[in-house]
Amino acid sequence: MIVDYVAEISRLKRELNAVILAHYYQDSEIQDLADFVGDSLELSRQAAATQADVIVFCGVVFMAETAKILNPGKLVLLPDMNAGCSLADGCPAEQFRAVRERYPDHVAVSYINCSAGVKALSDIICTSGNAEKIIRQIPEDKPILFAPDRHLGAFLEKKTGRKMRLWQGTCSVHDMFSERAVVQLKVRHPEALVIAHPECDEAVLRHADFVGSTKALLNFASGSEAREFIVVTESGILHQMQKACPEKVFHAAPANDNCACNLCPHMRLNTMEKLYECMTTRGPEIRIDEELRQAALKPMQRMLEMS
Ligand code: 13P
Ligand code: SF4
Repeated sequence: MIVDYVAEISRLKRELNAVILAHYYQDSEIQDLADFVGDSLELSRQAAATQADVIVFCGVVFMAETAKILNPGKLVLLPDMNAGCSLADGCPAEQFRAVRERYPDHVAVSYINCSAGVKALSDIICTSGNAEKIIRQIPEDKPILFAPDRHLGAFLEKKTGRKMRLWQGTCSVHDMFSERAVVQLKVRHPEALVIAHPECDEAVLRHADFVGSTKALLNFASGSEAREFIVVTESGILHQMQKACPEKVFHAAPANDNCACNLCPHMRLNTMEKLYECMTTRGPEIRIDEELRQAALKPMQRMLEMS
């Protein structure tokens, strides 16, 4: 049977009174039918504000968990429950608890790319879109434990001049971009501006004309007078860049010389077919223990207040 996924998903959306939230790293066809496409911060805000009964999250587990933490009464669906994240997986809650216990005087600021368990052990959550603003609000005399992304942490240290104790996690996608590949692309396109996500290594970021969250990169490209860009992040964002600026040229940075692996294998587990299936069967559904949810909610609320 041939299914018209766009028509069927629209029908199911009305039937369920559902909202479809999608991250910029989703396939273009999913981005095009979503009610809202955004970065982690915007998606959290949308999840906090929605009036829908059902949230269908086209992203990864930690994002859908965040939506559930903010909306315990709503059904939160994720098309593929295997859509994890190397940052979240590299920071198990028990190990994080042990580090917290070793440094009880530290304010624990955790990047939203972490499990509900790690959120529950944190003082404040941040995203790449608000991290600098949040770090700057923490009193100077308070030491900071930052988890789990060491590249974002190092970038924030440089921006704010604030030394932090960094968890040594990385994003498996952004960590693959090589300085050499970016420089080679820059030689081929000397007029292009390099725009990069702060999950990249410092060696890559030092070649960037602008560093920011996915949404900030999109805004920068739209507002810039430049006509050509080398984009150093997951290449899903190029879809919105090309839509917003059809007259500009965007070059997706390759991860290294001979591989184009700039797609997140977790994000890309979601497909139109799985989206349709999950709305049809109302599963897989995100479930979080209520005590854990309440503990994880506090640092999430602090983030929303501070950003
Ligand atoms: P942002 O959408 O916040 O820029 O984060 C990128 C990312 O890697 C999400 O997993
Ligand atoms: Fe996680 Fe990196 Fe994929 Fe984002 S791009 S979901 S940080 S593995």
